[in-house]
Amino acid sequence: MNDAFTPTPDDRFTFGLWTVGNRGRDPFGFETRPALDPVDAVRRLADLGAYGVNFHDDDLVPFGSSPTEREAIVKRFREALDRTGLKVPMATTNLFSHPVFKEGAFTANDPGVRRYAVAKTLDGIDLGCELGARVFVMWGGREGAEAEAAKDTRSALDRYAEAVNLCCSYVRDRGYDLRFAIEPKPNEPRGDLLLPTVGHALAFINELEWPEMVGLNPEFAHETMSGLSFSQAVAQTLWHGKLFHVDLNAQRIGKFDQDLRFGSEGIRDAFYLVKLLEDASWDGMRHFDAHAYRTEDADGVWDFARGCMRTYLILRDKVRRFHADREIHEALAAAQADRLRETTSPGGLGADAIDSLRATAAGTDLAALAGQGYGHERLDQLVTELLLGAR
Ligand code: GCO
Ligand code: MN
Ligand code: MN
Repeated sequence: MNDAFTPTPDDRFTFGLWTVGNRGRDPFGFETRPALDPVDAVRRLADLGAYGVNFHDDDLVPFGSSPTEREAIVKRFREALDRTGLKVPMATTNLFSHPVFKEGAFTANDPGVRRYAVAKTLDGIDLGCELGARVFVMWGGREGAEAEAAKDTRSALDRYAEAVNLCCSYVRDRGYDLRFAIEPKPNEPRGDLLLPTVGHALAFINELEWPEMVGLNPEFAHETMSGLSFSQAVAQTLWHGKLFHVDLNAQRIGKFDQDLRFGSEGIRDAFYLVKLLEDASWDGMRHFDAHAYRTEDADGVWDFARGCMRTYLILRDKVRRFHADREIHEALAAAQADRLRETTSPGGLGADAIDSLRATAAGTDLAALAGQGYGHERLDQLVTELLLGAR
């Protein structure tokens, strides 16, 4: 069935091979679905109207493949991309599955592990660039600790920065058109991960050798796990000019990393996120880093993928309705929403301007300002009714 919410490549939706290829394994139970051939993933995603497909090195070229095997796999995959028109906007490295990374990868205490992790990442960069990727995600799934005594956090950050700098240097040397996007996460699989939130990661970037080459890949589930507002985190990332990629999914606060179908939990948060990206005319990929429930068979995976994209488009339509709604406009005016764009000191930052600000403030009618209402109850109820389909 095609309707107004049927995705097309213009919508720039992407999925990871590991998302639609997720086999339903969890810490307590085995796989519930058969393996998905990356070429089939490409075909099904293209049929559904996606724009692109992303991968970890090992998702496409299984760990331990020989150079000849790698070549054959890449050739077959590239043919599938050419046939369908699907693109590879992003690639990444798996630095978390192999037991060698159990104590860390870029921040492992053993320099041998660190060197191997950097070399594996450089190979992943070559693979990604070969298939057209322009963004390289860095998610440090094993960078962290349980036994705090064993990990000196300040040295670990030195080594983390060194690894990112080595990757940047390599990209510059090769002349690749590639930027890095660090993905924060508070915990899981490690008890505590380094760079746990968007804020930590933004500050880290400032300490790098080539900060302009590095931005963020914030994930809905990860900020929500920390109890933080995802749309605020993404807004600040945009404000710093650092939104290089985004991982969309759904998550309930206080639970394990659920990576649920976009919009299946926290629909209001999802709405404000879509509103933010659309209002900002953000031109990046709408990437879904999520997977189907473990209950699903192979068909359920495509219901999952279709659902992520449809919900985004439905929420995008709600954003349009929000802007066209007269009552919402009145409520926004009552909330003085637009007035936040007025500068606090119209004369600037100089001494005269500050004197004038103080003189104006001295005449403040505090009782009047303190007494005014902002009409948030009405505004919020209007948004609720919009989302519930009552307006
Ligand atoms: C997670 C992470 C991962 C990364 C992916 C890319 O769910 O904890 O989001 O899915 O995004 O491995 O490196
Ligand atoms: Mn996640
Ligand atoms: Mn992710």
